[in-house]
Amino acid sequence: MEKIIVTSALPYANGPIHIGHIAGAYLPADIYVRFQKLMKKDVIYICGSDEHGVPITINADKLGITPKEVVDKYHKNIKESFEKMNIGFDIFSRTTTEIHKKTSQKFFTELFENGYITTDIEKQLYCEDNKKFLPDRYIEGTCPHCGNLNARGDECPKCGKWLEAVELKNPRSNLCKSPLVIKETKHWYLSLDKLQAKLEEWINSKPWKENVKNFVLGWFKEGLQKRPITRDLNWGIPVPLSDEDAKGKVLYVWFDAPIGYLSNTIEWAEKSGNPEKWKDYWQNPETRLVHFIGKDNIPFHAIVWPAMLLGQKTKYILPSEIPANEHLSVEGEKISTSRGNAIWVDEFLEHFPSDYLRFYLASKAPENKDSDFSWKVFQEIINNELINVTANLFNRVLTFAYGNFDQKVPSLTESKLQDEDRKILAVIQKTLKEAKELYSTYRVRDVSRVILELARQGNQYFQEHEPWKLIKTDREKVGNIIHICIRLIEAVSILYYPIIPESASLMFEALDKKRKIQEIDLSSLVDIADASERPIEKPAPLFKKVEDKEIEARIKSLEERMKSVSEAETPKTEDSLIDIADFKKCVLKIGKVLEAEKVPKSSKLIKMQVKIGAEIRQIVGGLAPSYTPETLIGKKVAVVSNLKPAVLMGLKSEGMLLAAKMGDKLELLTMNGDIEDGATIS
Ligand code: MF3
Ligand code: ZN
Repeated sequence: MEKIIVTSALPYANGPIHIGHIAGAYLPADIYVRFQKLMKKDVIYICGSDEHGVPITINADKLGITPKEVVDKYHKNIKESFEKMNIGFDIFSRTTTEIHKKTSQKFFTELFENGYITTDIEKQLYCEDNKKFLPDRYIEGTCPHCGNLNARGDECPKCGKWLEAVELKNPRSNLCKSPLVIKETKHWYLSLDKLQAKLEEWINSKPWKENVKNFVLGWFKEGLQKRPITRDLNWGIPVPLSDEDAKGKVLYVWFDAPIGYLSNTIEWAEKSGNPEKWKDYWQNPETRLVHFIGKDNIPFHAIVWPAMLLGQKTKYILPSEIPANEHLSVEGEKISTSRGNAIWVDEFLEHFPSDYLRFYLASKAPENKDSDFSWKVFQEIINNELINVTANLFNRVLTFAYGNFDQKVPSLTESKLQDEDRKILAVIQKTLKEAKELYSTYRVRDVSRVILELARQGNQYFQEHEPWKLIKTDREKVGNIIHICIRLIEAVSILYYPIIPESASLMFEALDKKRKIQEIDLSSLVDIADASERPIEKPAPLFKKVEDKEIEARIKSLEERMKSVSEAETPKTEDSLIDIADFKKCVLKIGKVLEAEKVPKSSKLIKMQVKIGAEIRQIVGGLAPSYTPETLIGKKVAVVSNLKPAVLMGLKSEGMLLAAKMGDKLELLTMNGDIEDGATIS
């Protein structure tokens, strides 16, 4: 039987995830997986966090904690966000596991032994203070062309010339501002040039999406170059060579990350009790390997990763499809953490159910072009499409059947069927067929439209026949109408299941007490089976309307956050108001307590995980005399966020909470309004 491996790009464990991530690589994949599971396909959905790379070490330095501590907290946070979004991975692991290390080193070794890895000596910029080679984006200096003092490691923003970091005059680190020196260092390279012919042959046989194919063909035309796959870093998977030169070198994060798809499948197989099971997928020519990614990741998935697979001694399958999505913006602007306009998933879910976000992002999926998230449009789509069309149909039909037909689905009286009834029955069949086709070709936007259209037609059909009047004169005819509407609703619920699993399950369960929606076999479903005489319940309201004031509050909070971020970035001027300037040295922010627990063996200390916008910090404070850990969770507190980290009872504390004190009693400064964590207090 055909098998399918579905993957979503492994997210960096270096910050929480926002709705743009969900729209790009996770929701489309989850929808596809849920659809294939309904089709009774043997599909596994593999993901995990991407935990190596320089940015993680830099973030760790900034916070005064270890890279391991950074990835531990974000792995947990990201995993929870996915769970709340009902992204149903079969496994969500990490790239810091032993299995992953072993698998990645084996990949390197097999490429090496096959002659696809070469070495070279490179000149790179090195920071003596931090004992680190720095990647381009952390380097600044004087432009050799125009003399601009603030050119970047890759480009001069003033004269627009592309630069190599080593060309800069007076290069310095943009992190610690220390001057950098040029140092030679040996690296290992993947010889993509030697693999180009094989790659081309393979890619030409693929019916890929335009955006992927064009990209790749462009690369081929220029001729593939060897690419460095090692780094000088103390965080990552050690290069598996015994040479003296290989000491202190790790695999480049983009080399090890995609291997995570495989190593996480191996881990999944081990956990399932059949450690060999991964081979049925990765080494089975009948398996389709489908990588869902954002468009930025195309080169790695369409070229580098397939080349790594082709260069192995062990035989693996190659990607079959790479559905790559375009970008999602927020209120018309590119999502950027540093601008403060990212809408975090956890934050969204504090205000609205996950199905609302799924519904919106499905109907506006950035499939062929960039797409936008706007709070006003969100309100419109939820209220008009989800509530006024779908939920309304569900409620009015079920309420009517419940009240007029003995809490049962009336049976169909064939002799009374008219053309208009047959037409609707045909529309149900046609939509089932169309939706299956669209789901299997990754067209989530279109499929959303088609299902909605079915629900619209159901509403219209119900409305036009005015069953509430007709019931007085022709009960059999009304029985037919209600029967047909219920079949239609059942079709709508099944077809919506991949997109809005929670709500679709509720809808389905109200119609069918005997089965769970997941048990449906969509592959053989060409029509909705006769639902006659099934008992139904009085329908409970499925959704809550999105109110104007909720939307206004969201818009305001987004604006506030962008403002506070930009203020934090404008350098403060020296003026006569010395005490204000002094005060401003201390950066106060709103933090939200996510977790709290007593520190063992301490009578006072409580250890908390506090979320401050994009960051989660561990803060340890002497709160136990006045608070129990449970009562702290969820509180929005005032945090001194630029305090040097301290160690209390062996625990790192990255900040301090503001509290008023009277004798033994302590009371935290808390916020109760709509202001969100990350906001600056001034
Ligand atoms: N962490 C990368 C990103 O967020 C994606 C890695 S995808 C993988 O852009 F294939 F390498 F796993
Ligand atoms: Zn310049």
